[in-house]
Amino acid sequence: MSMIALNCPDIEVVVLDINEERIKAWNSEQLPIYEPGLEEVVRQCRGRNLFFSSDTTKHLAEADMIFVSVNTPTKTSGIGAGKAADLTYWEGAARMIAAVATTPKIVVEKSTVPVKTAEAISKVLKRNCTDPSVTFEILSNPEFLAEGTAIEDLRMPDRVLIGGGDSEAGQAAIKQLAWVYAHWIPQERILTTNLWSAELAKLTANAMLAQRISSINSISALCEATGADVQQVARAIGMDSRIGSKFMNTSVGFGGSCFQKDILNLCYVCEGVGLKEVADYWMKVVTMNDYQKQRFVERVISAMFNTVARKRLAIFGFAFKKDTGDTRETPAIDVCRGLLADGAKCVVYDPKVTPVQVFRDLSAPKFEWDRPHGWGKSERHITENVQVVADPYACAEGAHAICVLTEWDEFKSYDYQRLYDSMVKPAFIFDGRNVLDHEALRSIGFIVYALGKPLDPFLQKSY
Ligand code: UGA
Repeated sequence: MSMIALNCPDIEVVVLDINEERIKAWNSEQLPIYEPGLEEVVRQCRGRNLFFSSDTTKHLAEADMIFVSVNTPTKTSGIGAGKAADLTYWEGAARMIAAVATTPKIVVEKSTVPVKTAEAISKVLKRNCTDPSVTFEILSNPEFLAEGTAIEDLRMPDRVLIGGGDSEAGQAAIKQLAWVYAHWIPQERILTTNLWSAELAKLTANAMLAQRISSINSISALCEATGADVQQVARAIGMDSRIGSKFMNTSVGFGGSCFQKDILNLCYVCEGVGLKEVADYWMKVVTMNDYQKQRFVERVISAMFNTVARKRLAIFGFAFKKDTGDTRETPAIDVCRGLLADGAKCVVYDPKVTPVQVFRDLSAPKFEWDRPHGWGKSERHITENVQVVADPYACAEGAHAICVLTEWDEFKSYDYQRLYDSMVKPAFIFDGRNVLDHEALRSIGFIVYALGKPLDPFLQKSY
């Protein structure tokens, strides 16, 4: 919305949230999320044509176009628990819009939703609006930006996708939204489709991206078993233009608020229409991701003489990727839980993640992160065995091992000799992102494990 405000000075954008604390933060000097470049954009537009408010009644009534970007978490109970999207917040937003609408509205789905959600939302809007003369047109306009590069992705997206109804009114609504984007995006990158295609394209894009990571991660395991090098394999296959080189970095597992959730959703939709084989196929992408995290934990434990009980492990990075403070579904959660279960003491350092977030994540039940009040109780085991520090050198001091779980650039430039000198020997580094200079680390004396790389002789014996 900030980028729309930046590029469309003739449009007034009001960002609404029922959470007043969040709105206060958006209006303050300290924005509630970290995203490179966002602060500058907000500063430029805030108070000009970009406003943050919790007065939903006033602004929903006044708006011509409403983008709904509420969370759509995975259901934790009832039918479809653990797979289906929980549309409670979406439905709540629709009811709120219907209650105050007195003029025609274009309602734009920005949240990722299951296919055919627009149809359901349309019913909620129409049946709940007391003024029968009010018309609602629903559009699906899924977002393809990635965190950490959001501003750049929005400045020049590969494409903008707008799905809408076939009727004249539907087509007119598509045109209006396309006009907004046309302020800065070349016409040929603005695609229009029917509603269901747009909704399904979003789920499929994320499923295909995640599938690439699970594919290369599966090969990383085979590389370790055979002495091949996954980066060499990825480079060789990525040069085939049909395959391409992007999204081919092996990792300790993909995270983020979308990949797993959207695949689970896709599977649920497939099952709902009787396509069990299709659902099973996509489910394997998630299974492989869980295997990769578990495999990493087992590697750490087996390398360290089959136990990490009472050993201090330095966790470098907790965010699900670099350049963000976001920890939703970060692989670090499952890896730390696995290590804690074996008795380890985890000391976490991340340049952007706060201690309270780390404790919340490690104590929250699965799928609860996307609910405003769903945090689990802080388990004593977590608070006693997890420490979060603000400095990488303090993190590694007295540690038996360093586990790199996020690919932050700053990890590459640390003084590893100094880190080594302060650690218990043998000192291990488990590079879950393949970002460090492994040869240099070996020459310092570290025992290095890197995903999908020929195994260090020390590790061959122990595994
Ligand atoms: C992802 C998609 O890339 C966006 O196109 C989409 O709009 C977004 O989800 C969404 O649906 O909101 P995001 O989750 O922000 O974006 O970040 P990604 O860059 O896709 O990374 C996801 C995870 O995959 C991270 O944990 C990352 O470390 C991991 N990853 C990525 C790898 O393990 N290897 C790679 O080669 C690339």
